Amino acid sequence: MSQLLLLNGPNLGILGRREPSVYGTDTLADIEKAVAAEVSGRSWRVRAVQHNSEGDLIDAVEAGYDTVGAIVNPGALMIAGWGLRDAMANYPHPWIEVHLSNVWAREQFRHDSVLAPLAAGIIVGMGSLGYRLAARALLELVAA
Ligand code: DQA
Repeated sequence: MSQLLLLNGPNLGILGRREPSVYGTDTLADIEKAVAAEVSGRSWRVRAVQHNSEGDLIDAVEAGYDTVGAIVNPGALMIAGWGLRDAMANYPHPWIEVHLSNVWAREQFRHDSVLAPLAAGIIVGMGSLGYRLAARALLELVAA
């Protein structure tokens, strides 16, 4: 069965309890369930991975070449996660970068993502809805 890679970086495992005024109250489990529901019509399963360390995320990308596409929230690795950036450069399927918060409405250091130029698209500021929108986009972008 085809699998969609759902990759979340540092500090995203505590969603729901992490600065809810910025990131909302949905937990990562809620998000994983919502993404799974979006892609179930295509019989895709979700391979959900969250790590706080960059090396573990890179391992997950390398182990995920057999997936059909990916949704990636790199968290703060957007700023200087060059290793993860290089891992995504070799990921052989379309992928979407998601940020729950509108990073451009926040501190200057969040205004650039080293990964974003490689993504098929970027969704920011839509909260947990952003992951579902990314899943819908991948349903369009990934050939049947
Ligand atoms: C984030 C935005 C990043 O700047 C931050 O470091 C995060 C979460 C978001 O989803 O809004 O960890 O990626």
